[in-house]
Amino acid sequence: MFKTFKFNCSISKPKCFLIALLCIFSLISAPKKLIALDTSSGESLFKKNCAGCHINGSNIIRRSKNLKISSLKRNGIDDPEAIAKIAREGIGIMDGYEDLLFDNDDLILANWILEQAQKAWVQE
Ligand code: HEC
Repeated sequence: MFKTFKFNCSISKPKCFLIALLCIFSLISAPKKLIALDTSSGESLFKKNCAGCHINGSNIIRRSKNLKISSLKRNGIDDPEAIAKIAREGIGIMDGYEDLLFDNDDLILANWILEQAQKAWVQE
């Protein structure tokens, strides 16, 4: 498995190394994941990857590009697939987080964000 991975790698070496490390890490931490299932819940993914800049659905860098429903609608990204794509690939000056999102993490995250936006980011 490792050999084919190395073989098909068409991206830069440091990036490839990083991805390989992440793969190893996720393999090692897989059994733990089964016990603590919520490590890949929308909320924990958001806290881990997005909250630094989007705390409570805001945007600390570009105020107008926040995750409130009015902004998402204005920018035509009020659907899970569009948000998932931004999470993976980034947008404008925001980097993508593809390397940190596994399996369906992008969509789990996007659905959670949309759900929060619809609730105006008010926690119960
Ligand atoms: C380092 C800061 C930073 C992090 C971390 C970050 N973002 Fe962003 N995000 C931005 C900035 C800045 C923009 C505006 C980009 C632009 O338009 O140039 C943005 C824009 C967005 C938008 C578009 C919002 C709109 O109203 O147009 C979405 C959706 C989004 N981010 C989702 C995410 C998700 C999901 C994550 C976590 C995987 C995340 N962001 C992590 C800084 C960040």
